[in-house]
Amino acid sequence: MLRAREAVRNLPTYHPPLGGRTGLRLDFNENTVGCSPRVLEKLRRIDFEDLARYPEREPVEAVVASHLGVQAEELLLTNGVDEAIHLLCESYLEPSDEVCVVIPTFSMYEIFAKATGARVVSIPAEENFAFPLQSIRQKITPATRLIVIANPNNPTGAAAGVDDLQTVAESAPNAALLIDEAYFEFHGETLLREWTNRPNIFVARTFSKAYGLAGLRVGILCGHREQMETVRRAASPYNVNSVALTCLPEALAEGEYLRGYVQQVLEGRARLQTELERLGIHYWPSRANFVLMRLGDLNSVFSRGMRERGILVRDRSRDYGCQGCVRITLGSTKHTDRLLDALRDVLKEIGALTQEVRL
Ligand SMILES: Cc1ncc(COP(=O)(O)O)c(C=O)c1O
Repeated sequence: MLRAREAVRNLPTYHPPLGGRTGLRLDFNENTVGCSPRVLEKLRRIDFEDLARYPEREPVEAVVASHLGVQAEELLLTNGVDEAIHLLCESYLEPSDEVCVVIPTFSMYEIFAKATGARVVSIPAEENFAFPLQSIRQKITPATRLIVIANPNNPTGAAAGVDDLQTVAESAPNAALLIDEAYFEFHGETLLREWTNRPNIFVARTFSKAYGLAGLRVGILCGHREQMETVRRAASPYNVNSVALTCLPEALAEGEYLRGYVQQVLEGRARLQTELERLGIHYWPSRANFVLMRLGDLNSVFSRGMRERGILVRDRSRDYGCQGCVRITLGSTKHTDRLLDALRDVLKEIGALTQEVRL
């Protein structure tokens, strides 16, 4: 009988809860109003010629590289950050290697790492999900070949400082350090170009979140040119489809649209956090386009109440240290207005508010 590799047979099946997502989707950290009109216009003009040809990645990589202020050889466009993670695992990991991840975090790191047969070393975040710099340093061994850090982290919204991340890179010069900046636009700090000083640093970005292009599947992996030359060998030359490639320059050109959306998210994040404070609901201050809050036993009844009002939120109870927690994505101002109305309503209905809180 045909049998897959043991490492793959042992993987759990990952089913993101994508079914029946009708309503206001505040459950996957997507852009709630979608991509810019300029991208939509370009999409409408795509013709059979564009689709009949194999996609040519390099010219668009040059545009993206210049937008980011890096060299084209330092950048690879990927099929979402997911593929960037996959490629790094494929490029660097042997079955005897170790991969460090801080938990809780984005689940694909563990899945792709384990699929290679490498051992995943999970390092719990500190109190209040603070970055566990000392624990990471203690866990680095000669077998450590990859360290992945989402910054800001998902699902907590916590961010590590640039200095701490540089310290990690310095502490493990024989390991690739991937800083996953999927939520960069909502945070503003980056390790981009740091690989000139520390060539083991890689940075990933995505068009799935702030840019509203999750369905097109485009991400960016950047790093030192020598390392990227190797990683590129493991990638398909056609990993990013032609529709996505056609749209990217348009998405980048419309900076005004992106800035306007990000501004709304940041204001919405501040409003939600202020409201949770006032209502006495525990939450963790976030640097991303979502906020994690703890409702304890009322978690699932809260999510249900929100769904009944047409708003989807994400139960994160299964993540390490997130028992009873819900993650809520922020979107446009209009959507934050709707979220806050429903949130107050549901919290009151399920008895989550103390007597003193007046609505
Ligand atoms: C930290 C992090 N990295 C990567 C991704 C996935 O990005 P992409 O859609 O580019 O594969 C997500 C999506 O939720 C994420 O939270």
